[in-house]
Amino acid sequence: MQHFILKTIQFVKQTLANAEAGHDWFHIERVFKTAQNINAKENGDALVVTLAALLHDIADPKFNSGDEDLGPNIAEAFLLSLKVDAETVKHVKLIIQHMSFKNSFDDAGFTSKEMQIVQDADRLDAIGAIGIARAFTYGGFKNRVLYDPAIKPEQHLTKDSYKNTTAPTINHFYEKLLLLKDMMNTSAGKEIAIERHNFMLIYLDQFYNEWEGN
Ligand code: ADP
Ligand code: NI
Repeated sequence: MQHFILKTIQFVKQTLANAEAGHDWFHIERVFKTAQNINAKENGDALVVTLAALLHDIADPKFNSGDEDLGPNIAEAFLLSLKVDAETVKHVKLIIQHMSFKNSFDDAGFTSKEMQIVQDADRLDAIGAIGIARAFTYGGFKNRVLYDPAIKPEQHLTKDSYKNTTAPTINHFYEKLLLLKDMMNTSAGKEIAIERHNFMLIYLDQFYNEWEGN
């Protein structure tokens, strides 16, 4: 088992060598550690949890012309080449296929304890101090303004507002980041989410205060 994990770490590091900062190896490493922490309380299959956490962003459709199958297929081929057992490979592939935020709205297709753990770990990396850093990194990459006081983000939300590509980065807190706490699957994940959520509320409060020159 340790052998599979070490080989997978090596493969993922290599594959993500040129990835942007929100989806680089360090994102994977944080999700991997968080998933292991959650699993210590939730007792899922440790190999499935670990491999799915490591491989979940191996080919993000956003950066691969929308191809949703590429990541799951790369993960499957890689694990089969290591001779990981077929059951485990199938499970890991299903997790990667069904894990994205978009799929979690549209798709009631597949779930398992291991999927819930890895999904929680991935979502936790989008909130708290790291989540804030990732959001502004993404916003900078897309050349978005930090905030626009003319747009009250909490009043302009629809189910599709996360698709708006020009909105200020602060909007992203209201369309996604502040919703994640209530989307946690596991109680261990929820506990961590509450702490990170509260930190974001304090952050926003301070942000608006500073915006007014206080
Ligand atoms: P994930 O990889 O967790 O499924 P995404 O690929 O949607 O999430 O986003 C990667 C990171 O960029 C996350 O931390 C997310 O919050 C952030 N992000 C995504 N969309 C936006 C946006 N419109 N504005 C600011 N940050 C964003
Ligand atoms: Ni991720």
